[in-house]
Amino acid sequence: MAQGIPWPDPEAYEAVLEELRTKPPLVLPSELRTMRSQLAAAARGEAFLLQGGDCAEEFARVHQAHIQDTLKVLLQMAVVLTYGSALPVIKVGRIAGQYAKPRSSLTEVINGVEMSSYRGDAVNQPEPTPEARRPDPNRLLEAYHKASQTLNLIRALTKGGFASIERVHAWNREFVKDSPVGESYAALERQIHAALGFMRACGVDTTGLPEFQQVDFYTSHEALILGYEDALVRQDPETGGWYACSGHLLWIGDRTRQLDGAHVEFFSKLDNPIAMKVGPSMKPDELNRLIEKLNPHNEYGRLTLITRFGADKIVRHLPRLVRAVTRAGQHVLWCCDPMHGNTFKSEGGQKTRHFHHILAEIKRFFDVHRAEKTFPGGLHFELTGADVTECLGGGQEIEDWNLAERYLTACDPRLNAQQALEVAFLVADALKAR
Ligand code: PEP
Ligand code: CO
Repeated sequence: MAQGIPWPDPEAYEAVLEELRTKPPLVLPSELRTMRSQLAAAARGEAFLLQGGDCAEEFARVHQAHIQDTLKVLLQMAVVLTYGSALPVIKVGRIAGQYAKPRSSLTEVINGVEMSSYRGDAVNQPEPTPEARRPDPNRLLEAYHKASQTLNLIRALTKGGFASIERVHAWNREFVKDSPVGESYAALERQIHAALGFMRACGVDTTGLPEFQQVDFYTSHEALILGYEDALVRQDPETGGWYACSGHLLWIGDRTRQLDGAHVEFFSKLDNPIAMKVGPSMKPDELNRLIEKLNPHNEYGRLTLITRFGADKIVRHLPRLVRAVTRAGQHVLWCCDPMHGNTFKSEGGQKTRHFHHILAEIKRFFDVHRAEKTFPGGLHFELTGADVTECLGGGQEIEDWNLAERYLTACDPRLNAQQALEVAFLVADALKAR
């Protein structure tokens, strides 16, 4: 199997899966059906998807501050994008389950010793010793519990006032006031402020309306370890359908999307809303065959395509894929991941990405869809609410030599809170201008 984990003790692995089968689902089929209908709206051009969070979540960071900060920045971005797009924004974290990583090489040699690569906290530990890197299936149980703790906090925060529109808007005002480039975002921020004031003047008491006090917030992760995912499949008592219940939006990664591969086969049998990464190696007819297999009834909301080419490659690849899908009459939601095609090594040797490449890929994504008359329905980011120095550029002008200051990611470089908000403001401005 592509990107399979070589569990050294298969019996221990099976025992863990057996235990997981007895656990409550982390999300309910009814929630997945609701999400699917919202994604269907986005695929028709009536809503917009915002997805973001860590590249790899860490067990050690399952604490309130980290979860709350990630949620906060996504909610802030969502308000800005709601205003800019004049559409409901579907809010999705790469959170509460993003613990398993595909790697380009499954082993690595460190100080002359060969060991398994770090495959995410659900599998092994990042420390560069063969013992730490040995896959341990008990970590899958830990992943389930960490996901459940995270989800519990998210559910409480999003229904308990943390996500109220006034509060999120007040955070955005602070950002504009404190950011070195805040002035460039002040106009949009003032428009949102005026819109809220206008509503109040009309007699809308936002504090009494759940629409303004609570949000639906969904979780997502790459469904890499099929044993884990399969152990959390449950039947929907209402419809009889079968759903993977480890998170709301599960996706198939760019390294596991083979037409005859186990991951595609697994999802073709389930009723979840699903996503699939689409990178530069995807051929147009291959994509259509994957879509036919994953969405044979051509239903809106079933399949989201997350494209990730790189700012320099998107114009070469995206138009022919969009044309092929349109010609085949397939209903998909197109979403742009401007992160994974724009990674390079800094002079200091860290993996990094540049703010202006990220923006350029997003801009070209919108341009291509405009030219093809299709709907650019979402954005997918690796980001964190913390003030890290992992991606270059942005208003703080992070440079190569700043990267070492707070380079904390367990895997790929993330936008920090300021960079993430800047992207949201710039995209919202561009959406409004259209
Ligand atoms: C990721 O989203 O972290 C990832 C590994 O992406 P991709 O499958 O697109 O390379
Ligand atoms: Co990543």
